[in-house]
Amino acid sequence: MSISIPRGTQDILPGEVEKWQLIENKARELCEKYQYREIRTPIFEHTDLFLRGVGDTTDIVQKEMYTFEDRGGRSITLRPEGTASTVRAFVEKKMFGYANQPVKLYYMGPMFRYERPQAGRFRQFVQFGIEALGSNDPAIDAEVISLAMNLYKEMGLKKLKLIVNSLGDKESRTAHRDALVNHFKPRIGEFCKDCQNRLEKNPLRILDCKHDHEHELMKSAPSIIEYLNDFSKNYFEKLQQYLTQLDIPFEVDPNLVRGLDYYNHTAFEIMSNAEGFGAITTLCGGGRYNGLAEEIGGPETPGIGFALSIERFIAALNAEGVGLEITEGIDCYLAALGDEAKDYTVGLLQQLRLAGFSAERDYLDRKIKAQFKAADRLKAKYVAVLGDEELKNNKINVKNMATGEQVEIDLDSFIKYFQEL
Ligand code: HAM
Repeated sequence: MSISIPRGTQDILPGEVEKWQLIENKARELCEKYQYREIRTPIFEHTDLFLRGVGDTTDIVQKEMYTFEDRGGRSITLRPEGTASTVRAFVEKKMFGYANQPVKLYYMGPMFRYERPQAGRFRQFVQFGIEALGSNDPAIDAEVISLAMNLYKEMGLKKLKLIVNSLGDKESRTAHRDALVNHFKPRIGEFCKDCQNRLEKNPLRILDCKHDHEHELMKSAPSIIEYLNDFSKNYFEKLQQYLTQLDIPFEVDPNLVRGLDYYNHTAFEIMSNAEGFGAITTLCGGGRYNGLAEEIGGPETPGIGFALSIERFIAALNAEGVGLEITEGIDCYLAALGDEAKDYTVGLLQQLRLAGFSAERDYLDRKIKAQFKAADRLKAKYVAVLGDEELKNNKINVKNMATGEQVEIDLDSFIKYFQEL
């Protein structure tokens, strides 16, 4: 019996993987320009990190984590997201003491959530995310958003919608929280079990309920915008001013709450407007998380970031019909005729590769005609043919596959010939 791939995971094969690499390379290139530096954290962490970091009333923690006991009896969880780990490392490695502040970091790697798989929703997916720690300037919120928008744009996406909201500071949130409890409490019996639990622990999360989102109390629920204090209001206005200055169109959506507990002030999502994109339209989500570092045992540190998955990025490119320019074709295929020539190409191939060329030879003992066919399949720009006779005379034939032109050159100067081409 054959063994199949686990549900909600993917094999990304050659032919498809090049799209991933293009996106990953573009992301790294932008991070370099914006001065975000890569951080690599473990794929698993102590479960407590996510209980405290992501929040124990969130769907992620309650339903979606891959948690297991390791052989030492510790509770371990495969990371469901990258922010908690990044902030853990920031605190543990005392990056708050770095001379360069804010500390601007990015990560790229697999995340794990036990969700019901569907289009755009996987159990293992790759996030690219950035985190800026140590600044309370709304200009950095705008920078974070602009990096995500520019990445999408530079890859060719056009049908994007940015929505922003403010969740306010602690004071605003407490006022809003009380208003929400008063609003839902009298009729909480009409809501699902999750919402009933959320009422006391985190009533904001009720607004994000997938089950009860049609309930009339949802639409009339008090909006956070009405409860923002002056500081929070000013902060949000500044952000909007900077986004406008950067020519980034946005919509304010007071119902945007995001599915993780650590957010305050800025929250945002970038959606795809492309037709046929499917039910899940969120490409990227992020926001500010002042207070998370303290939650994890560090000093008071403001922070903001986003994460996006490459899976949904590619789905959006496909939905918009954006073709990516994938460079194909090798520089040289070494075809050989005769045993001695074949042996000789083993070394010659290595010389070509070490000189910087992509090159290939035959490994299936094919006839010369079949070697040319193989060269065609590899889209070789040049085919060099070496026979036993040429080898004896220190010669090799080089054919330009685009023009059909052939030249005989000295075997000694073969690499030099390529370098001068
Ligand atoms: P999140 O909204 O949970 O936020 O996820 C961010 C992005 O990851 C989503 O917008 C989506 O592109 C992708 N994503 C999430 N779940 C899946 C899935 N099951 N399959 C495919 N893609 C998925 C966070 O993770 C926060 N850590 C973002 C952040 C960083 N906030 C501040 N800094």
